[in-house]
Amino acid sequence: MALPAEIIQERLRAAVAEVCPEADLQTVQVRPCPDPKFGDYQAVAVMSLAKVRRVNPRQLASEVLARLNLQDLCSSVEVAGPGFINFRLRPEAVAAALAAAAEEPVPFVGRAAATRTVVVDFSSPNVAKPMHVGHIRSTILGDSLARALWRLGHRVITDNHLGDWGTQFGMLLLGWKRFLDPAALSRNAIAEMERLYKTVHAACQQDPALMEAARQELVALQGGDPENLAIWRQMTALSRAEFDRIYERLGVKFDFTLGESFYHPRLQALVDEFVRLGLARESEGAKVVFFDDLPDLKDTPLIIQKSDGAFNYATTDLATLAYRIETWHPDEILYVTDARQQLHFRQVFAAFRKWRPEAAHVKLVHVWFGSILGEDGKPFKTRSGDTVKLEDLLDEAEERALAVVTAKQPDLPEADRRRIARVVGIGAVKYADLLSNRQSDYVFSWDRMLSLTGNTAPYLQYAYARIASIFRKGGLTHEAARASVAHGFTLQTPEELALGRHLLDFGLVLQAVAEDYRPNYLCNYLYELAGRFTRFYETCPVLRAAEPERSHRLYLCEVTARVLQLGLDVLGVEVLEQM
Ligand code: ARG
Repeated sequence: MALPAEIIQERLRAAVAEVCPEADLQTVQVRPCPDPKFGDYQAVAVMSLAKVRRVNPRQLASEVLARLNLQDLCSSVEVAGPGFINFRLRPEAVAAALAAAAEEPVPFVGRAAATRTVVVDFSSPNVAKPMHVGHIRSTILGDSLARALWRLGHRVITDNHLGDWGTQFGMLLLGWKRFLDPAALSRNAIAEMERLYKTVHAACQQDPALMEAARQELVALQGGDPENLAIWRQMTALSRAEFDRIYERLGVKFDFTLGESFYHPRLQALVDEFVRLGLARESEGAKVVFFDDLPDLKDTPLIIQKSDGAFNYATTDLATLAYRIETWHPDEILYVTDARQQLHFRQVFAAFRKWRPEAAHVKLVHVWFGSILGEDGKPFKTRSGDTVKLEDLLDEAEERALAVVTAKQPDLPEADRRRIARVVGIGAVKYADLLSNRQSDYVFSWDRMLSLTGNTAPYLQYAYARIASIFRKGGLTHEAARASVAHGFTLQTPEELALGRHLLDFGLVLQAVAEDYRPNYLCNYLYELAGRFTRFYETCPVLRAAEPERSHRLYLCEVTARVLQLGLDVLGVEVLEQM
């Protein structure tokens, strides 16, 4: 198989696999050398092979090295540590790889050898409630993971598992029938539904009869009562319209929005099957799955049907899993929710494994994340102590970005400033969220995320815009810069080489993002890229350089801009030609 010339790591992998007895491409991994002092890349396969064959890994590495023929790519290849092979690239090889990427739509990214089908379950807000900042993390993280997987050539199916069939509908229906304010509903539907829910909830605390009435409404809905179903449909449609507005602002799309209600008709049969197979048994009237064989779950059995006949969140998730596997035949399913649902997913996955052993090959992953904290270190709240609503947050982001843009460019017409502020504000919120290690709590800080310096979206957007302005000033096009490599392309200065070297790693970083479900790797990669670009730009004149340097440097600018744009796109962040 011919390897694309711009994907140097693949060529190193293939070269090692070819001379390393019993190794194949799967076992050979090439990664950036942890310490650049010792090389650019490092192969790590030999050690596990040596273990299997019970030979000295350094010895095996030396044998492999003796057979390697990489003079054209590497200036040095050395055995290091317990059996690594370190490669130092020749500047000519780096330049050739960069030039070969001129017409690649996604440069330096090899399409995955084995294409996987991955379902990404994310966002999943609850009907009749506002989306809050917890849903923002799921939405932004899930969207970015889906984009990374797609860029790597996988088949991605995104599904918004809307919470549209919970017990909250008992109170909502009762509230709708008794307390609805139609004017308020048309002004702000979700706020009105939230008010109805709160009103009934409070009234129920005082009056047990009301509680019973709410329960009856729920029973009627689940039994298919036409009036209740019609109201429920209206509530769902109103909520979805509002959610869609937010998705539109965020630039997030779903292939499917199959809410919990979609699975309701399957739940009784599912519970019956669990009982029939002996996987669930009756306990105090409820149907329960016990995990006696699993030490970490044996004290937390899973109720799949309550004694009053109602089903649980987990029952729906089991039906959802079965449906997804039957319908889409995925290799992997990701669930992007906050850390508090860890036990839920461990239980659901374990129950599913008992139920469908034939689907054991499907990888199930709970991609969980921590909470968003205010600058005081406490859960992020508004000044009045309410939970922050996503829509308000996005409004504020755009307003604050407008102030930043106006300070920088007071003479720009307002419409332009607003357009820039939208891209910068939304980009800043997304980027700040993705930058933190998802498993730690993250402190929300407007000033930090909107800063034009440091690891922020505005800083990277600015780096992109700066390159765009070089092209504008020179009256040049990206196409011309790309075409120029046909007449040769070289890297001369250390700054050019450092930038060029870093560009080659784009694909490796995307792979790591998709493997560990961590877009923050990409944030850090892009930040480093912008830094290397700045050092290059500060030391190497571009437009004022003599030919052929001028063309070579312009091409380097061009590839940098492309990788910045593609990388930010994977994070769901837009770029601007001018800011
Ligand atoms: N609606 C849930 C919530 O807001 C999230 C659903 C996540 N997905 C799932 N398949 N359980 O917490």
